[in-house]
Amino acid sequence: MKRIVIFASGSGSNAENIISFFREKPQVEVAAVLTNKSSAKVLERCDRLGVPAFYFNKIAFKDSDTVVQFLEGIQTDLIVLAGFLWKIPSNLIQSFPDKIINIHPALLPKYGGKGMYGERVHQAVKENNETETGITIHYVNENYDEGAIIFQAKTKVIPSDDANSIAEKVHQLEYEHFPKVIEKLLS
Ligand code: GRF
Repeated sequence: MKRIVIFASGSGSNAENIISFFREKPQVEVAAVLTNKSSAKVLERCDRLGVPAFYFNKIAFKDSDTVVQFLEGIQTDLIVLAGFLWKIPSNLIQSFPDKIINIHPALLPKYGGKGMYGERVHQAVKENNETETGITIHYVNENYDEGAIIFQAKTKVIPSDDANSIAEKVHQLEYEHFPKVIEKLLS
């Protein structure tokens, strides 16, 4: 049995999709969801889905080993960042080498780095008249969006798209591919 912990800061639709996917697969369990935002919608989703979810603040995350100890204590095999907005501190990266992955809603190295998240990414893709965008799943290192790329998938951007429709296309790619990539990494 492999154990995943998901980190999410907002809506958590990817978290829910991953939880649902692995419900059907007894060899992988989403052991917990962690969030840095006490009002995040992902907490409601976890309540409904019956998945343990925990909130931590900045001190627990950055200035102590609380989160690392929690993750080690439940024997975490893979940490999955799905819409998680804080930078991962070095104690966490060093404790889980090559065991932390992130999904970015664009084709890195384009549209990555500090401040490039959520709608801003899709807005920038639109403003630059890109004809394609996509998703990047990558390992996490100490710099935003710079770890080794594991997987990318593309979708077309047409002139009538706006940031919302681009986001929708990107989300569809995320739902289709993210759980399968996680499954493959764990197998
Ligand atoms: C996704 O687009 C993901 O790529 C990005 O943040 C968004 C999270 O969406 N990192 P959700 O919270 O899973 O709905």
